[in-house]
Amino acid sequence: MSDILIHTESAICTLTLSRPDKKNSLTSFMYDELAQAIAQAKENSDVKVLVIQGSETVFCAGNDISDFIQNPPDSAKAPVFKFIESLLGFHKPLIAGVCGPAVGIGTTMLFHCDLVYAGDNAVFSMPFVNLGICPEAASSLLVPNVMGYQRAAQALLLGEPFMAEAALEVGLVNQILPPTELKAFVQRQAAKIAQKPIRSLIETKRLLKAHSLPQLQQRVREEGQLLAQLLKEPAAKEALKAFGEKRKPNFEGL
Ligand code: COA
Repeated sequence: MSDILIHTESAICTLTLSRPDKKNSLTSFMYDELAQAIAQAKENSDVKVLVIQGSETVFCAGNDISDFIQNPPDSAKAPVFKFIESLLGFHKPLIAGVCGPAVGIGTTMLFHCDLVYAGDNAVFSMPFVNLGICPEAASSLLVPNVMGYQRAAQALLLGEPFMAEAALEVGLVNQILPPTELKAFVQRQAAKIAQKPIRSLIETKRLLKAHSLPQLQQRVREEGQLLAQLLKEPAAKEALKAFGEKRKPNFEGL
């Protein structure tokens, strides 16, 4: 069975990350599946709104670390970049429902969602520096824009996690709910959007985003090139090896 569940009903397409044994971390295969599902939702005139969610206990543990080693994203055609591109190009409303950990791209993808609802157990983190790599998905631009520079530095230079309340306070999250109620609430919000006229939804989102799109695309490319380079360097190699060995990385001298 696929690790991405796709369900389309009443003009709502819902993508559920479902790889519980690895905390919904994303492999190249899953990025491909997500990019394909997003492209289909974009083309399908029966779909007005897209939802992305995990389970009640985990949203997404970021890139699968073993896959980082086996299939490093070394070109713009790498599945992770196709996924990011599909998020940037998705012109209909996109809603995320987040419970539990949202690590790395599990958090950065949220900056591309139009509405984000979180369980009170949600924990967001972008620990790229702990892995010897750099931000992706234009997060180096979006995180300071949304959260302010100092909070962005705390999240990105210290790699410190932040909780649902903090995410609400900075404006990353629209509302916090008990995890058991989140999925139903997100579907109700999606259903409200699905009742509105599609052209008006699309044009409104286009106008909201128009000023920033070229800059975001440029930053995605810049970060992508850097990420590919950093993954070949000793700090990332040590961090990824340490994860596999369940120990802290040793960055002494790096
Ligand atoms: N890639 C590959 N495997 C991962 C993973 C990832 N990003 N995140 C978790 N897993 C695996 C663990 O290795 C473990 O596998 P095992 O049972 O075979 O040993 C399993 O998922 C459960 O993880 P565990 O750490 O025991 O769960 P937890 O509830 O204690 O913690 C997280 C959950 C998400 C906080 C923690 O797993 C974590 O920090 N993961 C790494 C996140 C990360 O650095 N991602 C990359 C960002 S760029």
